Amino acid sequence: MFNIFLRLLLYSYAFVNIYTFAEEYSKTENNGQEVLLCRKCGADVADSYYLFSKLSPGSRKIEKQNLFGKQNVTIQTLVNPFGVKFEIITTEKARCDNIGPRQGADSWFPGYAWRICACPHCGQHLGWTFDSSKSPDTSTEKSQNIQTFHGLILSNVLGENFTDSLIMMPKMYKM
Ligand SMILES: *[C@@H]1O[C@H](CO)[C@@H](O)[C@H](O)[C@H]1NC(C)=O
Ligand SMILES: *[C@@H]1O[C@H](CO)[C@@H](O)[C@H](O)[C@H]1NC(C)=O
Ligand SMILES: [Zn+2]
Repeated sequence: MFNIFLRLLLYSYAFVNIYTFAEEYSKTENNGQEVLLCRKCGADVADSYYLFSKLSPGSRKIEKQNLFGKQNVTIQTLVNPFGVKFEIITTEKARCDNIGPRQGADSWFPGYAWRICACPHCGQHLGWTFDSSKSPDTSTEKSQNIQTFHGLILSNVLGENFTDSLIMMPKMYKM
């Protein structure tokens, strides 16, 4: 008897979860954008709505791809001073735990200092945060240069649709 009750409780819990999931899903679909998740722990770290193209003069390769519900997302390949290659996407907003002081040296983006961007939930290295070294209120030069942006390592994030496709079993059976 107790067992049945427990099962009912579990089922209804699962149902509510699926329902809220579906609701969020259609909401993001309407805007043609996706939430980006930390690949290691699944925490929300960014929204593809805020992706924008910010090219580094040092990029080795520039590619456009339809990614995360957006067209022509810029992916650039950058190499750090140790010769390690990263494919990064740039975004105006991201949830980052910024670690350490700002570094001006070896910045991929001249005029911007960088800090490590780590997942606020699990600490995984997600990319870097870039802050303009110029103060924001130099009204003489109202450039479109954004004060702060983030470069996320493509292989360390995941679109939410990827996890949907794992959860929605029936779709897989149709194949
Ligand atoms: C998510 O996947 C669904 C089904 O595969 C697709 O119709 C939808 O356009 C995708 N959404 C985004 C934002 O890519
Ligand atoms: C993406 O690129 C294609 C081909 O260059 C172009 O036709 C299309 O309008 C672009 N879409 C957006 C949203 O910029
Ligand atoms: Zn994480």
